Amino acid sequence: MAVTPLINETEIRERLVELGRRIEADYTGRPLTIVAVLTGSLVALADLIRQIHIPLRVGLVQASSYRGATTSGTTLVLNETFAPDVAGRDVLLLDDILDTGRTLATLVEHLKDRGAASVRTVVLLRKVGRQVVPIEPDYHGFLIPDAFVVGYGLDYNDEYRHLPFVGVLEE
Ligand code: XMP
Repeated sequence: MAVTPLINETEIRERLVELGRRIEADYTGRPLTIVAVLTGSLVALADLIRQIHIPLRVGLVQASSYRGATTSGTTLVLNETFAPDVAGRDVLLLDDILDTGRTLATLVEHLKDRGAASVRTVVLLRKVGRQVVPIEPDYHGFLIPDAFVVGYGLDYNDEYRHLPFVGVLEE
């Protein structure tokens, strides 16, 4: 399948520098923990944390959505093997893309339940016109149209994650 470039490497790098500056300013003097959602946000995590020049910790959580065979909804299954202790810490949750908003909204509540002092969210991409759960990310990289995108961590059947840019997967 073909991939049509949407956001190039330079644009991503420049935007992450801007986000890093804002995050740094907002969290100076606070116990920041960045929790990244596997697997899609791995590339953004590696690049974003190198633009944040204050002490921080990093943790990972895996979230997988399953469409129920017998129910109409989707269930989010969390694997927290590599999740840090967030009690009393200011958490910044990082995901690759905000689509319906279910993943981010569920994880924010979960981190609060585990005792985080505060939880904010950052997404690289925000799809326009798809959201069903009302959650506003505190920081976002780019607004994108309602298309299936891959690259820079995002996959289709576990492929394309290594592309250094974000592109639209064409049928
Ligand atoms: P929700 O709907 O919970 O979805 O906001 C977030 C998760 O859905 C996946 N997703 C995508 N993955 N290209 C992808 O590679 C896309 O266009 C796309 N849209 C949603 C992704 O795993 C994200 O964390």
